This record gives sequence, C-alpha cells and structure tokens, in this order.
Amino acid sequence: MLILGIESSCDDAAAAVLETATPGKAVVRSSVVANQEIVHKRFGGVVPELASRYHVRTISPVIEAALEIAGCSLSDIDGIAVTRGPGLVGSLLVGLMCAKGLAQTLDRPLVGVNHIEGHVLAPLLEHEVAIPYLALVVSGGHSAIFLTEDFGKYRRLGSTRDDAAGEAFDKVAKMMGLGYPGGRVIDELARTGDRKKFNFPRAKVRGNGFDMSFSGIKTAVALTLGRCGNGNAPAPSDLAASFQEAVVDMLLKPTMEAARRYGVKTIALTGGVAANSRLRERLTAEAENEGFRVIAPSLKYCTDNAAMIALAGSYRLLKGERDADDIDAQAALSL
Ligand code: KG4
Ligand code: ZN
Repeated sequence: MLILGIESSCDDAAAAVLETATPGKAVVRSSVVANQEIVHKRFGGVVPELASRYHVRTISPVIEAALEIAGCSLSDIDGIAVTRGPGLVGSLLVGLMCAKGLAQTLDRPLVGVNHIEGHVLAPLLEHEVAIPYLALVVSGGHSAIFLTEDFGKYRRLGSTRDDAAGEAFDKVAKMMGLGYPGGRVIDELARTGDRKKFNFPRAKVRGNGFDMSFSGIKTAVALTLGRCGNGNAPAPSDLAASFQEAVVDMLLKPTMEAARRYGVKTIALTGGVAANSRLRERLTAEAENEGFRVIAPSLKYCTDNAAMIALAGSYRLLKGERDADDIDAQAALSL
C-alpha cells in the first residue's frame, strides 16, 4: 500500500510517501518538510496566523515534491493520512482540507491521525521495536511518557503539568538573548560549560504517576540572571550546561522509573528535544546500564514530519478503515 502522509499542525508543512504491507513496518519513499523558522524567528515564537498563511502557500508544492521524490503520482496513492490534532487550529485546517480534497477527488480512504501518536510510532520508521515499549515524547509542545501496548493502544503514564521541555529550552534561550528556537544553541553552548555551576531545582510532582514540571526551572534561571547584575553576568556556557543538566535529570527520573515499573525492554526517545546530545548520552548510559535498549529516530524523524503521520495512519488504512467525510481538526486532541 502506498500512503500519502500530510502534516501541518504547527509551523512545519510536511508530506511523505510510505510503502507498507504490515502494521509498523514501512519503507519511507519520500519525506519533505517546509520549515518556517525564518518566518517566526524575529517574533521569538510561532505566530499562529502567519503559520497558517505560509501553510496555504507551501502545502501543495510540498506534496508535489514528496510524490516526485517517491517516483509516483497521485493516482498511485492508495490512502491518505493527515494530522487532525493537537496543534494550532488554523494550521491543522490547511493540511486537513487539502487531504480531504485529495481523498474525495481521487476516491481514496482518508484517516485523521493524532500528531502525538506519530511521534510515539516514529522510532519504528528506522528500527525494529518489540511492543510493548516506552516512548518519551519531548518537543516544543509536548513532554509525556507513553506505554505503547499495541497499534492504537497507548497508555499515558505521565506528562508535564505546565511547560513542555522544549518550551523551557526556548524560553531560557530567549532570556539569554540566544534567539529562537533555542534548544540547539543551548545544547551547543552547554558542551563547554560547567554543569554544576548553578544548582537549579529539580521539580518533583506529587502523586503515583510519572508527571513532570518545567515552569519552575525557567523562573530559577530568570532569578539567577536577575541577581547577577552588570559586570557580574554568568558565563552563558555554565548557565546553559547547568540548566540543561537539570532538565535532563527531570526527564530521566520518571522515564527510568516507568521503564522499571512496566517491565519494558525498550525506551524510545522522540520529539525535537530528542536531538539533545546530553539527553541522548545520559539516557543511553543509564538505561543500558540497567539492561534496557534505547532507540532514538534520526533527527529528521524526531522533529515534525509526515512520514510518522503516514505510519500512524497506516495500520488503520491496512485494515480498510477510513474516517467519515466530516472529520474535523481538534486543537486539544489528547492521546
Ligand atoms: O518536535 P519539534 O520540531 O516541534 C514541536 O512539535 O514542538 O520540536 C521543537 C523543539 C523546540 O523547542 C527546540 O528548541 C527543541 O525541540 N530542540 C532542542 C534541540 N533541538 C531542538 N532542545 C534541546 N536540545 C536540542 N539539541
Ligand atoms: Zn511534534
């Protein structure tokens, strides 16, 4: 089956062509992403109206490019998978309306996909992973730990009570005058910094679950910056390294506890923050030390892409399922 995936939930317009015959096993024939970083950079964050306007301009060329790279035409496509939430509603609607138009014109089945399910399944694009496995999804919009029990069956074991981890990276980078998005810059700066220079608090969330919290550390960094007046500014590399170490600690603790509690063999790390070198290094070291296997997709499948959306739609399309024509975008869809 050839599946066209379409993703436009935030500031990336993406399309991909996936070839699959078995749920969870697929060959990515193409994966194209039109990134809007240059559009939103000067505002220090994503401006929703601009995001949807740029999606309107880019979605068709992105789909055409995905088909061309895959060496097929629209008539070869057997089914379409599109992100229907969560995300910015104006952005979601662009991809969804485009997908509906194509599905109706071509008379092919359409399924709406939860964006987070895409992130959870993304590791399967490149790795054989035995189910059940644990997925730590960390991006600019989400931080959560899921137990993948089957295709379509996910148990959310914990999530952030406030900011997402990526949001904390971006906000701290903004405070430090490092621009947007800031995760990559902090990661690079931290390589030469002292991780113990500032002892930022590690938030503990009460309860039996594996919830996290990243708003306090943002305030702690702001207070540290405020206390260090002119001429007494902390070295950016030390601040970046100490902040990053605290975030990594707060992600690792619940992830490791959940992996032990649920007896999984594999921990998958996904989402934009999965690109973080220290997070990869420490999770791999600590988890492998306890006998877990750690897998992380390559960067192009960690960040938003349509290959993961096609994969998340594929097991339903393979079963012959389709969504009704009135399927709608949902800004606050949960998994
Ligand atoms: O998955 P993604 O592309 O988009 C969302 O769905 O949010 O993730 C983007 C997030 C941003 O917050 C960005 O700062 C963060 O991922 N990020 C990083 C790194 N590279 C990207 N955070 C920490 N370290 C990195 N190397
Ligand atoms: Zn995402």
